[in-house]
Amino acid sequence: MLGRRLLKIVNCNLNTNFYRDFSSEVVDINKIHKRFCNKGLKTPRILITGGLGQLGTECAKLLRKSYGEENVILSDIIKPTDNGLTNGPFIFADILDFKGLQKIIVNYRIDWLIHFSALLSAVGEQNVPLAVRVNIEGMHNVIELARQYNLRIFVPSTIGAFGPDSPRNPTPNITIQRPRTIYGVSKVHAELLGEYYHHKFGLDFRCLRFPGVISSDPPGGGTTDYAVAVFHEGLLRKRYKCYLEPHTRLPMMYIDDCLAALFQFLNAPNERLRRRVYNVTAMSFTPEELFNEIKKHIPDLHVSYKPDSRQNIANTWPQVFDDSEARKDWNWTHEFNLEKMVISMIQDVSENFIPKYQHLSEVSSYV
Ligand SMILES: NC(=O)c1ccc[n+]([C@@H]2O[C@H](COP(=O)([O-])OP(=O)(O)OC[C@H]3O[C@@H](n4cnc5c(N)ncnc54)[C@H](O)[C@@H]3O)[C@@H](O)[C@H]2O)c1
Repeated sequence: MLGRRLLKIVNCNLNTNFYRDFSSEVVDINKIHKRFCNKGLKTPRILITGGLGQLGTECAKLLRKSYGEENVILSDIIKPTDNGLTNGPFIFADILDFKGLQKIIVNYRIDWLIHFSALLSAVGEQNVPLAVRVNIEGMHNVIELARQYNLRIFVPSTIGAFGPDSPRNPTPNITIQRPRTIYGVSKVHAELLGEYYHHKFGLDFRCLRFPGVISSDPPGGGTTDYAVAVFHEGLLRKRYKCYLEPHTRLPMMYIDDCLAALFQFLNAPNERLRRRVYNVTAMSFTPEELFNEIKKHIPDLHVSYKPDSRQNIANTWPQVFDDSEARKDWNWTHEFNLEKMVISMIQDVSENFIPKYQHLSEVSSYV
């Protein structure tokens, strides 16, 4: 389903497929390639770390459509399920193993590194030492290798890179950042280190601060996971217990927009980028607003609230994200608002997940 939708976003083989460009709403994908090729650059070979998480597999599908299956190497430390993989190479890569990563970069002649490995906000708070290792030491490894081998490196940041001292509505691109989670601290560290390497060594470091990303795939233990879980629980059991209070407003983005932003930003010419780190977003809503929208399609959905420690995290995060700099500099535009996202998620989860749920225990992983 998502694969089919991605075909709508990008298809490098056909003349009739369109993709949003820097300067207009839609553009022939071949134009992007032409622009890329005109610069005398070869098709990049791309390594994705942490590629079996919520974002990695879908990102690999998109990039493989654009650059060829063999040119996108998906990697992780977990074992892929048979249906978790798309065509193309998958390898084991632990970002804490510098030599191992180095070997991969050399053997596969990597040009671009997309660094997704991380422990997310809620999981990070459960195991701070591991979050420090994966999110901070891991970042040291990949950025140093990117410098040594002259790679373009993309590292996602997050709304969690802001804290209670930041303006929350709206939160601009440049403002106070004093996050209160190890996840946020590690992401600010990644942003600053990337900017430093860019200024000191000329490293082509690129970073987007994503809001909560909504997709049908299982999320990795973040504070915005409720906006995915409610679709699975709601469609299967018509009940959902939310761990955030009803009026907790957070910025969000549908997976298609997240991938579109990533693709567009990765291909943006350097001269268009006034910054190395940009806010991007698509919408902001509260749990109550989301559930009311879902109830238009599932009227018997019953929601209750039992806030937990994730509420404390959400209370320090941006409510509305100001991404005007991304819109101005490289013409970022989103496509999915709340209404459109809910329709798409209901269709996706109904078709691809609900038939597979045989036992309630399978669903508990989404709560
Ligand atoms: N999903 C979101 O809503 C969201 C929002 C903002 C930013 N981001 C960022 O995007 C990136 C991807 O997010 P996601 O939701 O796919 O995360 P995820 O938790 O679903 O996946 C992270 C992956 O990292 C892997 N990993 C953990 N330790 C590793 C190690 N030592 N070596 C290699 N891989 C390791 C895990 O196995 C996992 O598959 C993260 O950096 C995250 O901070 C995500």
